[in-house]
Amino acid sequence: MPAPRSWACAGNGAEQGLAVVVSCVAGFTDAFFSILRMAEQPDGLITLQDFVRWGASRFNAAGLSFGHGTDNAIDEAAHLVLSAVSLDPTLPAGFRDCRLTPAERVRISDMIERRVAERLPAAYLTGRAWFAGLEWVVTPDVLVPRSPIAELVEAGFEPWIDGEIVGRVLDLCCGSGCIGIAAAVHLPDVDVDLVDISAVALDVARRNVARHHVEDRVRVFASDLFDSIPNDRYDVIVSNPPYVSRSELEALPLEYRNEPELGLLGGEDGLDVVVRILADAANHLTDEGILILEVGSAAPELERRLPSVPFTWLEFERGGEGVLLLTREQLDRHQLELLEEATAR
Ligand SMILES: C[S@@+](CC[C@H](N)C(=O)[O-])C[C@H]1O[C@@H](n2cnc3c(N)ncnc32)[C@H](O)[C@@H]1O
Repeated sequence: MPAPRSWACAGNGAEQGLAVVVSCVAGFTDAFFSILRMAEQPDGLITLQDFVRWGASRFNAAGLSFGHGTDNAIDEAAHLVLSAVSLDPTLPAGFRDCRLTPAERVRISDMIERRVAERLPAAYLTGRAWFAGLEWVVTPDVLVPRSPIAELVEAGFEPWIDGEIVGRVLDLCCGSGCIGIAAAVHLPDVDVDLVDISAVALDVARRNVARHHVEDRVRVFASDLFDSIPNDRYDVIVSNPPYVSRSELEALPLEYRNEPELGLLGGEDGLDVVVRILADAANHLTDEGILILEVGSAAPELERRLPSVPFTWLEFERGGEGVLLLTREQLDRHQLELLEEATAR
């Protein structure tokens, strides 16, 4: 716990006197600015709902981009407003008319102004996101969870593999750990390994392991893809790796460029990490195992480069595309082409 300000300044008499003056001036300045910020609050806004409406109008007027867990200004504003007062999106509708305290109004409008001025995804301002029906710790060290793979995890990867035979899952390029940890939560008999090359991302993944109380079934490894992982075979390898091409990255809205580049950029054509995973996955799958790999907008280029590989493109009820599935047997059969593509880079 930090020492109180006056204790931290303890010294001789003159120093103590100076410390008291500095502390008084600092206290006065804080109070002055907080009164000023309260006076700057938009007039007439009283309830939670008022602030959601005002925030959404500010976001639309500023031309913000959405896509980090919400897809419209109202949901984005609701996330910020509710998080600022420690409430969830599941808040019953009857509470939307609740009045806010002056301090809450300052906190909310500060967050809304930062969202507009800094173009930070809302999750980086609130430190939280939702994925596969669960809440996640999120910092700017990880991408904001949003993969359509959530739907497959919630379904226990069925009908693509018999849930009864799934014992081990590998989440490669795990970031916050949302995919692998959600698999551990939704499939209580499964053991999961999480892998990422970024030490700071893995710190966030570890916080999420603890948050969801799955320490006994989830392990975390720092590794460049498969290079430093245990010599295990997995029933499911699931991965949402970086797959954005350089030209695409440069054209993305600012919100995306506030995410770690390591999580987005997959080389010139977006496929550098993707083809390495395709070339090596068979060596880490059980005989009946499957690879589920998100390649997003890089899908057409992947098909062009590997025309004879029989990718199955998955469809999602809640939207999203660019997620492929290959069985261990298919990966084995096409390993030569996959290796050639990987080594040509
Ligand atoms: C698109 S993010 C996905 C994060 C998470 N799976 C999700 O869906 O939110 C890709 C992640 O891959 C990691 N990564 C990039 N290159 C890698 C490599 N060669 N080996 C392991 N992880 C890598 C990045 O650090 C980043 O966390």
